Amino acid sequence: MLSASRAPGRSRLIDVIRNPILLSVLMLAGCAASSGDQAGSDEHEIVLPAKKLVIAHRGASGYLPEHTIAAKAMAYAQGADYIEQDLVMTKDGKLVVLHDRYLDTVTDVASVFPGRNREDGRFYVIDFTLAEIKQLSVSERFETEDGAVRLVFKDRFPLWKSSFRVHTFAEEIELIQGLNDSTGKSIGLYPEMKSPAFHRDEGKDIASATLDVLMAYGYKSKSDKVFLQCFDPYELQRIYIELMPERQMSVRLIQLISTSEEYRRLLSADGMKQLATFVDGIGPSVLLLIEQDSTSSSVRATGLTGFAHAAGLKVHPYTFRRERDQMPPFAKDYDDFLRIFFDEIGVDGVFTDFPDLTVQYLEARH
Ligand code: G3P
Ligand code: CA
Repeated sequence: MLSASRAPGRSRLIDVIRNPILLSVLMLAGCAASSGDQAGSDEHEIVLPAKKLVIAHRGASGYLPEHTIAAKAMAYAQGADYIEQDLVMTKDGKLVVLHDRYLDTVTDVASVFPGRNREDGRFYVIDFTLAEIKQLSVSERFETEDGAVRLVFKDRFPLWKSSFRVHTFAEEIELIQGLNDSTGKSIGLYPEMKSPAFHRDEGKDIASATLDVLMAYGYKSKSDKVFLQCFDPYELQRIYIELMPERQMSVRLIQLISTSEEYRRLLSADGMKQLATFVDGIGPSVLLLIEQDSTSSSVRATGLTGFAHAAGLKVHPYTFRRERDQMPPFAKDYDDFLRIFFDEIGVDGVFTDFPDLTVQYLEARH
């Protein structure tokens, strides 16, 4: 059985492939179930192709500071199908919606709580209570170089304008569910548990906390509008084998895959089959789906999307941004970027900072 304290690593992934007992447990548990985004499979029913999904990456983060309530409301209004929440835990065990384990990339923590940084200079979310974090102002993401502070995305929302705060996972669910009530729509959640091993080392169980909040708000089966994502395959296995059965829940799971060497062993037909024993889809970097020597006249797919689909997995790559320097050189413009991935590669959804442009592309394509 897996150790709960394990972090992901290439050698450990090989362990799973070679562990017949674990594999048989996973396969007996089964992972086939109806998806909240697919037509039914009744023999008399016409099965329609699944809707291509627009996943608002940190909200409408191309227009408003990432992960703010305003950015989430804008993403909702722009027609996203799912809205993403990156999750980290506070000192008092609350889940807050922030991308980083640190507060110093999007808040004024350094001036509100001087001296509360660790030796590495960073201000860790886990060293602050929710009440303290609620005192902070949130800005568009920034970086500091040679003492100068500047925007990470220079043409986006300006630094330190208006008034934004950090919010909890529960507060964001209440926003989305409230909008679902008031609009009659059914927009989903796409939470990501950040750094489970780090949280465990700090005495926190982020997976259990996330599942408990999801259950409390009624997300418990694969037909509910949620995909739960993580970069750590061991945490996803723990969720699948232990944590969800304990709670009598079974939500859809997504294995995130970066270009890091530790995932290389998964980028194969066998790797995808192995993942399909406990997850419903993958969230790969866009760089993993197209050969990097592709040109605009010759775009060549890697085998990954085909391997994933053959294993029954959905493919939701990240991250789609309209800025020229954020797109692969073989894409002529943002629409071309989307066309290549939706129409040539055949992905099932995309994480995007620009939900409006992506919705418009998909609507115009029919
Ligand atoms: O979760 C999908 C994508 O958001 C992963 O990248 O670093 O933006 O969380 P990141
Ligand atoms: Ca994420």
